[in-house]
This record gives sequence, C-alpha cells and structure tokens, in this order.
Amino acid sequence: MSLLEDLHWRYATKKMNGEKVPQEKVDYILRAAQMAPSSSGLQQYKIIVITDKALLEKIKSISYNQSQITDCSHLLVFAAWDGYSEERISGVFNYMMDERGLPHSTMDDYKNTILTLYATLGKDWEAHHAAKQSYISFAMAIAAAAEQKVDATPIEGFLPDKLDELLKLKGSGYKSTVLLPLGYRDEANDWLVNMKKVRTPQADFITEMTLADAADVEEMPVMPSLGSFTRK
Ligand SMILES: Cc1cc2nc3c(=O)[nH]c(=O)nc-3n(C[C@H](O)[C@H](O)[C@H](O)COP(=O)(O)O)c2cc1C
Repeated sequence: MSLLEDLHWRYATKKMNGEKVPQEKVDYILRAAQMAPSSSGLQQYKIIVITDKALLEKIKSISYNQSQITDCSHLLVFAAWDGYSEERISGVFNYMMDERGLPHSTMDDYKNTILTLYATLGKDWEAHHAAKQSYISFAMAIAAAAEQKVDATPIEGFLPDKLDELLKLKGSGYKSTVLLPLGYRDEANDWLVNMKKVRTPQADFITEMTLADAADVEEMPVMPSLGSFTRK
C-alpha cells in the first residue's frame, strides 16, 4: 500500500476493541516519531508510553471520558519543553557534535544566534514553539501507525494542566501537548468507521502563486545568511 492509501485507511478511531498492539509495531511507530525533523534539530519534546490500566482510567477522567484512552493498547503522551535555555540547547548540540566527532564549539555561533532571538520572543512563545515541534513528531507517529495497520486517535481533548500534575511533569521542564492512543478499531461499534473521509477540496486547499500575485512590498529587510552560522 502507498502512503496515500494508508492515510485514506486511517481515521480518528472513536471505538477501540482493547486488543494489544505487538511491541515491534509500537517500537516502529515510536522510531518514526523519533525521526521527525524539528526546529534547529533540538527535538524539544519527548513521548511517555502508558499501558497501566489504572493510570489510563485516571487519564480518561480528565480527557472528557473518551473511551479510546482505556480501550487502546498503548497511550502515547507527547510532552514538549516548557522553554529554552543555554543549558538545554548546549546539551543537544554537544551531544550532536560528539556523535559527529566535531568540537562542541562548531555550533557556538548558531547557538548564540538562536538564544538571542528566542530571548526577544518570550517564554510563552518558547513553549508554543516547542509544542509545535512535538506535533510534527505526532504526525509521523500517526502516519507510521497507518502504515503498520494500527489505529490511532489524535487527542487534544484533555486537561493538560491536570495531566501534567498526574504524570509529575510539573517542575520537570515539560508540558503535555497531545495524546495518541494506539490500538485496533471496534468495527461493529464505531460510528465513524464507514463514513466517507472528507477533506477541503483540492482547489481550495492548494494555491499556486507567482510574483504577479504577490504584494508589492517595497522594503525587504536585509538578513544574515543562516549558512554562515552553521558551516565552519
Ligand atoms: C490535534 C488534533 C486533536 C484532536 N482531538 C481529538 C479528540 O480529542 N478526540 C477525537 O475523537 N478526535 C480528535 N481529533 C480527530 C479529528 O477530529 C480528526 O482527525 C478529523 O476530524 C479528521 O478525521 P480523520 O482523522 O478521521 O481523517 C483530533 C485531531 C487532531 C489533529
């Protein structure tokens, strides 16, 4: 099956049947999530995997009682950094340079540039920026699950503050962003399973533009070239 066929097969499963997903499929989905690109390669998020039924019951109670939380096989909780710091960013870049056999200082100019930029944007922006990166990983997990014929329901319908408290994320530097229960559809009891998949018509979704369609912006800022920070 092609990726497009897999994406047509998948849907936001409303009723799961409780069947276990084999560990190798879960590992494959987690690996795909780990391979997601992220801004500056920081991977400013992580995934918490939960199978404990008693804990899942508690999470369901703060997730509008959505049954997929307890009928799934594995619940993936995506959690992103609550902000940036020199220590956090250096930690990632130093590890990257060690893996590539390069001196830690290789990324110093780039690191200082992003730290200076982030400082002007504020802590809320930082948390939001990190959360957006976690959604890219989340989308990779959704696509990988579809490829493995594992059902997955994207879930934003939960109380993040309460979940952060329950999972001891408060004070850890992470905030929960989104949930992904993995499991198998309960064909007989899921009202959505045979519904037509509906998307915005292609003509409305995709716009092609040329300079003739663009605004006549007189003054464009002069920007430094990013490559000069990353290449030595
Ligand atoms: C970020 C995000 C949050 C969502 N939250 C929920 C949710 O809490 N519960 C739910 O049943 N579906 C949720 N959905 C599923 C969407 O409603 C669904 O993906 C959309 O209607 C398209 O349908 P499809 O995924 O079946 O193709 C969410 C989807 C996304 C991407």
